[in-house]
Amino acid sequence: MAAVTNLLQPVELDLESLLIDLRELIGAGHPILQAAAEHLFSAGGKRIRPGIVLLLSRALTNDGELSPRHRRLAEITEMIHTASLVHDDVVDEASTRRGVETVHSRFNYRVAVLAGDFLFAQASWHLANLNNLDVVKLLSRVIMDLADGEVKQGLYRYDPKQTFDDYLEKSYCKTASLIANSAQAVGVLSGVSEEKLKSLYDFGKQLGLAFQVVDDILDFTASEKQLGKPSASDLGSGYLTAPALYALQENPTLSEFIQRRFSLEGDLEKALHLVRESNAITLSRSLAETYASNAYKSIEWVPESDYKKALLDLPEYVLSRLY
Ligand code: IPE
Ligand code: IPE
Ligand code: MG
Ligand code: MG
Repeated sequence: MAAVTNLLQPVELDLESLLIDLRELIGAGHPILQAAAEHLFSAGGKRIRPGIVLLLSRALTNDGELSPRHRRLAEITEMIHTASLVHDDVVDEASTRRGVETVHSRFNYRVAVLAGDFLFAQASWHLANLNNLDVVKLLSRVIMDLADGEVKQGLYRYDPKQTFDDYLEKSYCKTASLIANSAQAVGVLSGVSEEKLKSLYDFGKQLGLAFQVVDDILDFTASEKQLGKPSASDLGSGYLTAPALYALQENPTLSEFIQRRFSLEGDLEKALHLVRESNAITLSRSLAETYASNAYKSIEWVPESDYKKALLDLPEYVLSRLY
Protein backbone atom coordinates (compact mmCIF):
# COMPACT_ATOMS: atom_id res chain seq x y z
CA MET A 1 0.00 0.00 0.00
CA ALA A 2 1.57 3.32 -1.09
CA ALA A 3 1.80 5.54 1.97
CA VAL A 4 -0.35 8.64 1.72
CA THR A 5 2.36 10.55 3.60
CA ASN A 6 4.61 10.30 0.53
CA LEU A 7 1.87 11.66 -1.63
CA LEU A 8 1.12 14.58 0.66
CA GLN A 9 4.83 15.35 1.04
CA PRO A 10 4.63 18.69 -0.87
CA VAL A 11 2.27 20.01 1.83
CA GLU A 12 3.77 18.10 4.78
CA LEU A 13 4.83 21.27 6.63
CA ASP A 14 1.40 22.81 6.04
CA LEU A 15 -0.21 19.68 7.48
CA GLU A 16 2.01 19.84 10.54
CA SER A 17 0.98 23.40 11.29
CA LEU A 18 -2.62 22.44 10.57
CA LEU A 19 -2.51 19.96 13.44
CA ILE A 20 -1.09 22.58 15.81
CA ASP A 21 -3.72 25.11 14.72
CA LEU A 22 -6.53 22.59 15.11
CA ARG A 23 -5.45 21.93 18.69
CA GLU A 24 -5.49 25.65 19.39
CA LEU A 25 -8.84 26.18 17.73
CA ILE A 26 -10.55 23.50 19.80
CA GLY A 27 -8.62 24.49 22.92
CA ALA A 28 -11.14 27.08 24.04
CA GLY A 29 -13.94 24.58 24.69
CA HIS A 30 -15.00 22.50 27.66
CA PRO A 31 -12.13 20.30 28.96
CA ILE A 32 -13.97 17.01 28.39
CA LEU A 33 -14.97 17.92 24.85
CA GLN A 34 -11.48 19.16 24.22
CA ALA A 35 -10.07 15.87 25.48
CA ALA A 36 -12.47 13.96 23.25
CA ALA A 37 -11.56 15.95 20.15
CA GLU A 38 -7.86 15.85 21.00
CA HIS A 39 -8.13 12.07 21.40
CA LEU A 40 -9.04 11.69 17.72
CA PHE A 41 -6.84 14.42 16.27
CA SER A 42 -3.80 12.93 18.02
CA ALA A 43 -4.60 9.43 16.82
CA GLY A 44 -3.71 10.73 13.38
CA GLY A 45 -6.01 10.09 10.47
CA LYS A 46 -4.70 10.07 6.93
CA ARG A 47 -5.48 13.83 6.58
CA ILE A 48 -6.49 13.30 2.98
CA ARG A 49 -9.16 16.02 2.92
CA PRO A 50 -7.04 18.88 4.27
CA GLY A 51 -4.21 17.48 2.11
CA ILE A 52 -6.35 17.92 -1.01
CA VAL A 53 -7.38 21.45 0.04
CA LEU A 54 -3.74 22.42 0.64
CA LEU A 55 -2.43 20.85 -2.57
CA LEU A 56 -5.14 22.54 -4.63
CA SER A 57 -4.58 25.85 -2.86
CA ARG A 58 -0.88 25.82 -3.61
CA ALA A 59 -1.42 24.52 -7.14
CA LEU A 60 -3.79 27.39 -7.93
CA THR A 61 -1.89 30.38 -6.52
CA ASN A 62 0.43 32.33 -8.75
CA ASP A 63 3.19 32.84 -6.20
CA GLY A 64 2.88 29.41 -4.53
CA GLU A 65 2.07 31.12 -1.22
CA LEU A 66 -0.72 29.87 1.00
CA SER A 67 -3.16 32.52 2.24
CA PRO A 68 -4.49 32.37 5.83
CA ARG A 69 -7.98 31.79 4.42
CA HIS A 70 -6.87 28.77 2.39
CA ARG A 71 -5.14 27.44 5.48
CA ARG A 72 -8.27 27.93 7.57
CA LEU A 73 -10.39 26.20 4.94
CA ALA A 74 -8.17 23.12 5.24
CA GLU A 75 -8.65 23.15 9.02
CA ILE A 76 -12.41 23.51 8.74
CA THR A 77 -12.49 20.57 6.33
CA GLU A 78 -10.70 18.27 8.78
CA MET A 79 -12.88 19.49 11.65
CA ILE A 80 -16.08 18.70 9.77
CA HIS A 81 -14.71 15.30 8.74
CA THR A 82 -13.68 14.40 12.29
CA ALA A 83 -17.05 15.53 13.67
CA SER A 84 -18.80 13.29 11.15
CA LEU A 85 -16.67 10.33 12.23
CA VAL A 86 -17.47 10.84 15.92
CA HIS A 87 -21.19 10.81 15.15
CA ASP A 88 -20.90 8.00 12.60
CA ASP A 89 -19.21 5.82 15.24
CA VAL A 90 -22.05 6.51 17.67
CA VAL A 91 -24.62 5.53 15.03
CA ASP A 92 -22.62 2.37 14.18
CA GLU A 93 -21.70 1.59 17.80
CA ALA A 94 -18.15 1.13 16.52
CA SER A 95 -15.40 0.34 18.99
CA THR A 96 -12.25 1.63 17.25
CA ARG A 97 -11.26 4.48 14.96
CA ARG A 98 -7.83 5.54 13.73
CA GLY A 99 -6.39 2.62 15.65
CA VAL A 100 -7.64 3.85 19.02
CA GLU A 101 -10.89 3.57 20.97
CA THR A 102 -13.77 5.63 19.59
CA VAL A 103 -14.81 8.70 21.57
CA HIS A 104 -17.91 7.01 22.97
CA SER A 105 -15.88 3.95 24.04
CA ARG A 106 -13.18 6.07 25.66
CA PHE A 107 -15.64 8.47 27.33
CA ASN A 108 -19.36 7.78 26.84
CA TYR A 109 -22.17 8.33 24.33
CA ARG A 110 -23.19 11.67 25.78
CA VAL A 111 -19.68 13.03 25.45
CA ALA A 112 -19.42 11.70 21.87
CA VAL A 113 -22.66 13.35 20.74
CA LEU A 114 -21.62 16.62 22.32
CA ALA A 115 -18.06 16.41 21.02
CA GLY A 116 -19.35 15.91 17.46
CA ASP A 117 -21.74 18.86 17.85
CA PHE A 118 -18.96 20.91 19.35
CA LEU A 119 -16.70 20.26 16.34
CA PHE A 120 -19.47 21.02 13.85
CA ALA A 121 -20.23 24.25 15.71
CA GLN A 122 -16.58 25.29 15.81
CA ALA A 123 -16.27 24.54 12.11
CA SER A 124 -19.36 26.68 11.34
CA TRP A 125 -18.03 29.59 13.35
CA HIS A 126 -14.64 29.58 11.64
CA LEU A 127 -16.38 29.12 8.31
CA ALA A 128 -18.51 32.23 8.85
CA ASN A 129 -15.36 34.13 9.80
CA LEU A 130 -13.86 33.50 6.38
CA ASN A 131 -16.26 36.26 5.31
CA ASN A 132 -17.06 34.68 1.99
CA LEU A 133 -20.72 33.87 1.49
CA ASP A 134 -20.11 31.48 -1.41
CA VAL A 135 -17.72 29.41 0.69
CA VAL A 136 -20.15 29.45 3.62
CA LYS A 137 -22.87 28.10 1.33
CA LEU A 138 -20.67 25.32 -0.05
CA LEU A 139 -19.47 24.04 3.31
CA SER A 140 -22.75 24.42 5.20
CA ARG A 141 -24.34 22.36 2.45
CA VAL A 142 -21.82 19.64 3.33
CA ILE A 143 -22.99 19.59 6.94
CA MET A 144 -26.59 19.19 5.69
CA ASP A 145 -25.50 16.39 3.35
CA LEU A 146 -23.68 14.54 6.12
CA ALA A 147 -26.79 14.45 8.29
CA ASP A 148 -28.89 13.54 5.27
CA GLY A 149 -26.49 10.70 4.40
CA GLU A 150 -26.63 9.19 7.88
CA VAL A 151 -30.44 9.31 7.78
CA LYS A 152 -30.56 7.76 4.29
CA GLN A 153 -28.22 4.98 5.40
CA GLY A 154 -30.44 4.28 8.41
CA LEU A 155 -33.60 4.16 6.30
CA TYR A 156 -32.18 1.50 3.99
CA ARG A 157 -30.76 -0.75 6.68
CA TYR A 158 -31.41 -4.44 5.93
CA ASP A 159 -33.45 -3.46 2.86
CA PRO A 160 -32.45 -5.62 -0.14
CA LYS A 161 -34.61 -3.34 -2.29
CA GLN A 162 -32.16 -0.50 -1.81
CA THR A 163 -31.00 0.39 -5.33
CA PHE A 164 -27.53 1.17 -6.56
CA ASP A 165 -28.60 4.79 -7.02
CA ASP A 166 -29.74 4.97 -3.39
CA TYR A 167 -26.31 3.69 -2.38
CA LEU A 168 -24.48 6.22 -4.56
CA GLU A 169 -26.62 9.08 -3.31
CA LYS A 170 -25.90 8.08 0.28
CA SER A 171 -22.19 7.83 -0.55
CA TYR A 172 -22.24 11.27 -2.15
CA CYS A 173 -23.84 12.72 0.98
CA LYS A 174 -21.60 11.00 3.51
CA THR A 175 -18.28 11.19 1.72
CA ALA A 176 -18.07 12.86 -1.69
CA SER A 177 -19.88 16.08 -0.77
CA LEU A 178 -17.17 17.22 1.64
CA ILE A 179 -14.33 16.58 -0.80
CA ALA A 180 -16.24 18.10 -3.75
CA ASN A 181 -17.42 21.24 -2.00
CA SER A 182 -14.14 21.92 -0.23
CA ALA A 183 -12.29 21.56 -3.55
CA GLN A 184 -14.70 24.03 -5.12
CA ALA A 185 -14.27 26.35 -2.13
CA VAL A 186 -10.53 26.47 -2.82
CA GLY A 187 -11.39 27.66 -6.33
CA VAL A 188 -13.71 30.33 -4.94
CA LEU A 189 -11.00 31.65 -2.61
CA SER A 190 -8.52 31.58 -5.51
CA GLY A 191 -10.90 33.39 -7.88
CA VAL A 192 -10.96 30.83 -10.72
CA SER A 193 -13.60 30.80 -13.50
CA GLU A 194 -17.05 29.17 -13.20
CA GLU A 195 -16.01 26.37 -15.52
CA LYS A 196 -12.96 25.58 -13.39
CA LEU A 197 -15.06 25.70 -10.22
CA LYS A 198 -17.24 23.04 -11.73
CA SER A 199 -14.30 20.82 -12.59
CA LEU A 200 -12.83 21.20 -9.09
CA TYR A 201 -16.18 20.10 -7.71
CA ASP A 202 -16.22 17.12 -10.10
CA PHE A 203 -12.70 16.15 -9.12
CA GLY A 204 -13.71 16.00 -5.46
CA LYS A 205 -16.97 14.23 -6.18
CA GLN A 206 -15.44 11.49 -8.33
CA LEU A 207 -12.48 11.03 -5.98
CA GLY A 208 -14.86 10.90 -3.01
CA LEU A 209 -17.03 8.24 -4.63
CA ALA A 210 -13.95 6.20 -5.53
CA PHE A 211 -12.77 6.56 -1.93
CA GLN A 212 -16.07 5.36 -0.50
CA VAL A 213 -16.34 2.36 -2.84
CA VAL A 214 -12.78 1.40 -1.85
CA ASP A 215 -13.63 1.81 1.85
CA ASP A 216 -16.65 -0.42 1.28
CA ILE A 217 -14.53 -3.09 -0.43
CA LEU A 218 -11.93 -2.95 2.36
CA ASP A 219 -14.68 -3.60 4.90
CA PHE A 220 -14.99 -7.04 3.25
CA THR A 221 -11.36 -7.72 2.47
CA ALA A 222 -9.11 -6.08 5.09
CA SER A 223 -8.55 -6.65 8.80
CA GLU A 224 -9.32 -4.36 11.72
CA LYS A 225 -5.58 -4.06 12.29
CA GLN A 226 -5.00 -2.81 8.74
CA LEU A 227 -7.91 -0.36 8.86
CA GLY A 228 -7.62 0.93 12.42
CA LYS A 229 -11.40 0.46 12.66
CA PRO A 230 -13.70 -2.57 12.71
CA SER A 231 -13.88 -4.60 9.48
CA ALA A 232 -16.52 -7.02 8.16
CA SER A 233 -19.06 -4.84 9.91
CA ASP A 234 -21.13 -3.17 7.15
CA LEU A 235 -23.14 -6.21 6.04
CA GLY A 236 -23.86 -7.39 9.57
CA SER A 237 -25.10 -3.91 10.47
CA GLY A 238 -27.44 -4.03 7.47
CA TYR A 239 -25.52 -1.50 5.36
CA LEU A 240 -25.72 -2.71 1.78
CA THR A 241 -22.70 -1.27 0.01
CA ALA A 242 -21.37 -1.85 -3.54
CA PRO A 243 -20.01 -5.38 -2.89
CA ALA A 244 -23.27 -6.51 -1.25
CA LEU A 245 -25.39 -4.96 -4.00
CA TYR A 246 -23.40 -6.65 -6.77
CA ALA A 247 -23.54 -9.95 -4.88
CA LEU A 248 -27.32 -9.60 -4.53
CA GLN A 249 -27.63 -9.28 -8.32
CA GLU A 250 -25.55 -12.41 -8.78
CA ASN A 251 -27.04 -14.51 -6.02
CA PRO A 252 -30.54 -13.57 -4.80
CA THR A 253 -30.36 -16.02 -1.88
CA LEU A 254 -28.27 -13.39 -0.12
CA SER A 255 -31.47 -11.41 0.21
CA GLU A 256 -32.98 -14.04 2.56
CA PHE A 257 -30.10 -13.65 4.99
CA ILE A 258 -30.46 -9.90 4.92
CA GLN A 259 -34.22 -9.94 5.37
CA ARG A 260 -33.99 -12.09 8.47
CA ARG A 261 -31.17 -9.85 9.70
CA PHE A 262 -28.71 -12.74 9.93
CA SER A 263 -30.68 -14.07 12.88
CA LEU A 264 -29.88 -17.76 12.39
CA GLU A 265 -26.64 -19.37 13.50
CA GLY A 266 -23.97 -18.94 10.82
CA ASP A 267 -26.05 -16.58 8.63
CA LEU A 268 -23.58 -13.73 8.67
CA GLU A 269 -20.59 -15.95 7.93
CA LYS A 270 -22.44 -17.54 4.99
CA ALA A 271 -23.50 -14.15 3.68
CA LEU A 272 -19.98 -12.73 3.95
CA HIS A 273 -18.70 -15.81 2.15
CA LEU A 274 -21.23 -15.32 -0.65
CA VAL A 275 -20.07 -11.74 -1.20
CA ARG A 276 -16.36 -12.55 -1.00
CA GLU A 277 -16.62 -15.54 -3.36
CA SER A 278 -18.76 -13.79 -5.98
CA ASN A 279 -17.68 -11.33 -8.68
CA ALA A 280 -18.81 -8.51 -6.41
CA ILE A 281 -15.35 -7.45 -5.27
CA THR A 282 -14.02 -7.34 -8.84
CA LEU A 283 -17.05 -5.39 -10.05
CA SER A 284 -16.77 -2.95 -7.15
CA ARG A 285 -13.12 -2.46 -7.94
CA SER A 286 -13.87 -1.54 -11.54
CA LEU A 287 -16.53 0.90 -10.34
CA ALA A 288 -13.92 2.59 -8.14
CA GLU A 289 -11.51 2.62 -11.09
CA THR A 290 -14.05 4.44 -13.24
CA TYR A 291 -14.54 7.14 -10.61
CA ALA A 292 -10.80 7.45 -10.06
CA SER A 293 -10.11 7.92 -13.75
CA ASN A 294 -12.87 10.56 -14.03
CA ALA A 295 -11.28 12.39 -11.10
CA TYR A 296 -7.93 12.36 -12.85
CA LYS A 297 -9.36 13.90 -16.01
CA SER A 298 -11.13 16.72 -14.14
CA ILE A 299 -7.94 18.46 -13.10
CA GLU A 300 -5.74 18.07 -16.16
CA TRP A 301 -6.07 21.84 -16.74
CA VAL A 302 -4.35 22.76 -13.45
CA PRO A 303 -0.95 24.44 -14.12
CA GLU A 304 2.05 22.11 -13.86
CA SER A 305 3.73 21.90 -10.42
CA ASP A 306 4.71 19.34 -7.77
CA TYR A 307 1.34 20.02 -6.14
CA LYS A 308 -0.49 19.12 -9.31
CA LYS A 309 1.60 15.96 -9.65
CA ALA A 310 0.53 14.90 -6.17
CA LEU A 311 -3.11 15.67 -7.00
CA LEU A 312 -2.91 13.56 -10.14
CA ASP A 313 -1.46 10.69 -8.08
CA LEU A 314 -4.37 10.77 -5.61
CA PRO A 315 -6.88 8.72 -7.64
CA GLU A 316 -4.25 5.99 -8.06
CA TYR A 317 -3.43 6.13 -4.35
CA VAL A 318 -7.10 5.64 -3.47
CA LEU A 319 -7.18 2.49 -5.62
CA SER A 320 -3.81 1.30 -4.29
CA ARG A 321 -5.35 0.97 -0.82
CA LEU A 322 -6.87 -2.24 -2.20
CA TYR A 323 -3.50 -3.89 -2.88
C1 IPE B 1 -13.21 7.57 6.86
O1 IPE B 1 -12.40 8.44 6.16
C2 IPE B 1 -14.61 7.72 6.42
C3 IPE B 1 -14.84 7.39 5.01
C4 IPE B 1 -15.19 8.27 4.14
C5 IPE B 1 -14.73 6.02 4.56
P1 IPE B 1 -10.81 8.30 6.18
O2 IPE B 1 -10.46 6.91 5.80
O3 IPE B 1 -10.21 9.40 5.39
O4 IPE B 1 -10.51 8.51 7.72
P2 IPE B 1 -9.24 9.10 8.48
O5 IPE B 1 -9.44 10.59 8.54
O6 IPE B 1 -8.01 8.73 7.72
O7 IPE B 1 -9.32 8.48 9.84
C1 IPE C 1 -17.95 7.29 5.72
O1 IPE C 1 -18.88 6.31 5.86
C2 IPE C 1 -18.45 8.69 5.84
C3 IPE C 1 -18.62 9.26 7.18
C4 IPE C 1 -18.15 8.73 8.28
C5 IPE C 1 -19.37 10.50 7.30
P1 IPE C 1 -18.55 4.91 6.55
O2 IPE C 1 -19.65 4.64 7.49
O3 IPE C 1 -18.23 3.90 5.51
O4 IPE C 1 -17.21 5.23 7.36
P2 IPE C 1 -16.42 4.20 8.26
O5 IPE C 1 -16.29 2.94 7.49
O6 IPE C 1 -17.22 4.05 9.51
O7 IPE C 1 -15.10 4.88 8.47
MG1 MG D 1 -19.42 3.99 9.55
MG1 MG E 1 -16.93 2.21 5.89
